[in-house]
Amino acid sequence: MAGCLANVLLFGVKMKPTIAIIGCGTVGTAMGKLLARVGYPITGVATRDLDTAGRAAKMIGAERFSDCPWDVSRGAQVVFVTTPDDAIESTCKAVVEHQGFDKHAVVIHCSGALSSAVLSSARRCEATVASLHPLQSFASVDQAEKLVPGSFCAIEGDKTALPVVRQLVQDVGGVLMEITPEAKPLYHAAAVAASNYLVTLMDLALKLDRGAGIPSDVSFRALLPLIKGTLNNIGAKGIPAALTGPIARGDVDTVTAHLRAIEERAPECLMIYKTLGLYTVDLARDKGTCSKKAAERLIALLQPGKPRGDA
Ligand SMILES: NC(=O)c1ccc[n+]([C@@H]2O[C@H](COP(=O)([O-])OP(=O)(O)OC[C@H]3O[C@@H](n4cnc5c(N)ncnc54)[C@H](OP(=O)(O)O)[C@@H]3O)[C@@H](O)[C@H]2O)c1
Repeated sequence: MAGCLANVLLFGVKMKPTIAIIGCGTVGTAMGKLLARVGYPITGVATRDLDTAGRAAKMIGAERFSDCPWDVSRGAQVVFVTTPDDAIESTCKAVVEHQGFDKHAVVIHCSGALSSAVLSSARRCEATVASLHPLQSFASVDQAEKLVPGSFCAIEGDKTALPVVRQLVQDVGGVLMEITPEAKPLYHAAAVAASNYLVTLMDLALKLDRGAGIPSDVSFRALLPLIKGTLNNIGAKGIPAALTGPIARGDVDTVTAHLRAIEERAPECLMIYKTLGLYTVDLARDKGTCSKKAAERLIALLQPGKPRGDA
C-alpha cells in the first residue's frame, strides 16, 4: 500500500521514499533541496529545458536529470509535478501515456487552487494522488527554501497517499493543514486576498501618497510601522475590533474630504477606494462604533456612480 511508503523498512533501517520532480522552477527546486537535506533520495528531476534540469539537479543533488518527465518518474516512489498549474493535468496525462508512474507511487502537485483530481489519470498506473500546497509566496528558490519551514501546508488526496504527504510536510518543517478538495478554490482565493491583494492595497496607498507629494521610498517606510501595528491589532483583538479610522468612527466629513482629494489628485484610485470603503462600513456596523445614520450617509457617499464627494 502507498501509505507504507512513509516508513519503508529495509534490512531493519527506516528508508525514506525515493522522489522525482517534474517541473524545476521555484517550488520544485526548493522542495527538492529541502527534502534532500532531510534524507529523501532525489532520484531524478525533469523540466522541458535540459540545461535548466541539469542546473536544478546540481542544486538539489539529484542522481539524474532529463527533459523527459517519464525518464525520471519511473522507479520513483513519490513524484512531484511542480509545473505551472495549467500544465499539471497534461503533464500527468503524458506521463501516464508512457506508463511513467510505478504501481503505488504517490503523485503530488503543489497548486493552491487545484485539487488532486487533476492528477486522477495517474490512477491508471495504479498510483495514488494528492496535493500539497505551501501557503506562502515564493519569489525565488532561496526564499522558498527559507520560508517553507514554519509555513502551513494544505494537503488533500487519496487516503493511502496522505500518510506519505503528512510525513513529507513534517520532515520539511511545514505545519499540516488538512483540507477538502472542494474547498481548494475558496481557500486559494483567501490566500490571494491576503497576499496578492495586500500588494495591490500597498500600491493604492503609495499612489495616494504620491498624489500628496510624498515620494515612494519615504511613503513605504512611513506606512510600514502602521501596517505592522494594524496586523498586531488584528492578531490581538480580531476583526472588527481592530478596525479604527474615519469609517469606524462614522466620520462622514473626513471620508467626503478623502473622496474630493482622490478625485482631484488620483482619480484612478476612486473606484477601489469606494469599494473597500463600502466593505469597511459593514465592518464598522459590526463593531458597533458607527451609528446607523452615519452608516447610511457613508453608503450613499461611497456608491460607485456618485460623481463628487458629497454626502
Ligand atoms: N511560487 C509560489 O509562490 C508558489 C507558492 C505555492 C505553490 N505554488 C505552486 O507550485 C507550482 C509551481 O510553481 P512555481 O512558482 O515553482 O512555478 P515556476 O517557477 O514557473 O516553475 C515551473 C517550472 O515548470 C517547468 N514547466 C513548465 N511547463 C512544463 C511542462 N509542460 N513540463 C515540465 N515542466 C514544465 C518550467 O520550466 P521549463 O520551462 O524549463 O519547462 C518551470 O521550471 C504551481 O502549481 C504553483 O501554483 C507556487
